Amino acid sequence: MTKKKVALAYSGGLDTSVCIRYLQKIHDLDVVTVTVDCGQNEDFVETEKKSLDIGSLKHVFIDAKDEFVSDYIVPSIRANGLYQEKYPLATALARPLIAKKTVEIAHKENCNFIAHGCTGKGNDQVRFDVTIKSLDPSLGIIAPIRDMNLTRDVEIDFARKENIQIDTKVNNYSIDVNIWGRSIEGGNLEDVLVEPPLDCFQLVKFDSSKTQYLEIEFENGIPVSLDGVKMSLISMIDILNKKAGNCGIGVVDHIEDRIVGIKSREIYEAPAAITLIEAHKDLEKMVLTSQELRFKHLVDNQWGWLAYSGLWLDPLRTALDAFINETQKRVNGKIRMKMHNGGLRVVGRYSDNSLYKNELATYESGSLFNQELARGFVELWGLQSITANTIINNLNKGKKYLGEYKNEN
Ligand code: ARG
Repeated sequence: MTKKKVALAYSGGLDTSVCIRYLQKIHDLDVVTVTVDCGQNEDFVETEKKSLDIGSLKHVFIDAKDEFVSDYIVPSIRANGLYQEKYPLATALARPLIAKKTVEIAHKENCNFIAHGCTGKGNDQVRFDVTIKSLDPSLGIIAPIRDMNLTRDVEIDFARKENIQIDTKVNNYSIDVNIWGRSIEGGNLEDVLVEPPLDCFQLVKFDSSKTQYLEIEFENGIPVSLDGVKMSLISMIDILNKKAGNCGIGVVDHIEDRIVGIKSREIYEAPAAITLIEAHKDLEKMVLTSQELRFKHLVDNQWGWLAYSGLWLDPLRTALDAFINETQKRVNGKIRMKMHNGGLRVVGRYSDNSLYKNELATYESGSLFNQELARGFVELWGLQSITANTIINNLNKGKKYLGEYKNEN
């Protein structure tokens, strides 16, 4: 009798490598491994070899870099996608894409199950499970590391016994990489008192004091040219990861609230993401009205939360994207930035759609702003606050039964 099949989202790391064997031994399944390239820059031939050596039935490689950029990174730039104001969502954005591709392969290969190597403590399990079930609720999900409550040392032990090759130079970090950034956690980073050692960084350099300028042009909220040269966004991200990284830009070190309630110390390197989001935010400030900006800030925040928390396919995101896309029609223009020694600053901006008008803003003579109108405006603007304070002052004067009305003056 032929065995049932499982499609395993496979990175080639320790967790997913031991998963192949667990799926065979414990679940008696044939394993199809799926590696999705989101720009992690690995030796994918080696990954395939590893999978087949461990005993998978078949290995499938999918280059999803372009889709990752167009369908995940572009919306994220437009939404100024950051979680808790800091994390540019690199890992969070890639997970639903990896899940989607793995579901596609599961269908093609007639698999009854999908498996992933996530633990029960992180966010990635939520992103995988919710996306897979949203796409096809009939697929069973197996997460051997979570299901068996496995720890790293148990996995390493198992790998040795089973003759599974593991990377011997593994440090204790858990690292996830794609074109939008590197996420680094675990090991000595768990000591929140201690500065992250240099060995956890790869994109950001800390030894440069040179100053660099950049000019980024946006069309409809999408970066289209760098220093006057039109290019694909994927090339721009690549260049910026190097350029901004070389100027020490792109490190995030923060305490993050995971979906499952754990506070964890997370380190990220995302030079391109941080530069592009900063530039995009600045351009929006020049072309959107204050009403649009105030509301978009709330929308962006909610968008970042959905992307972070595994709800990429929630219909709310589609609705938020519709609003965001409407606002981006005027987000055209150029942003000039200065990078020096880890510092990133916008130093110039230009847009045909700018709401900044020099003739209104200037303090010099010739301003078109009519100051006489301001007096009446201010009076009406403060009307309710001034009236309320008059009432509070009167109450404080005699009416003890309303004594909680205290006036600071
Ligand atoms: N905390 C980040 C997130 O939830 C990064 C997770 C990194 N994953 C990893 N396997 N190292 O998106």
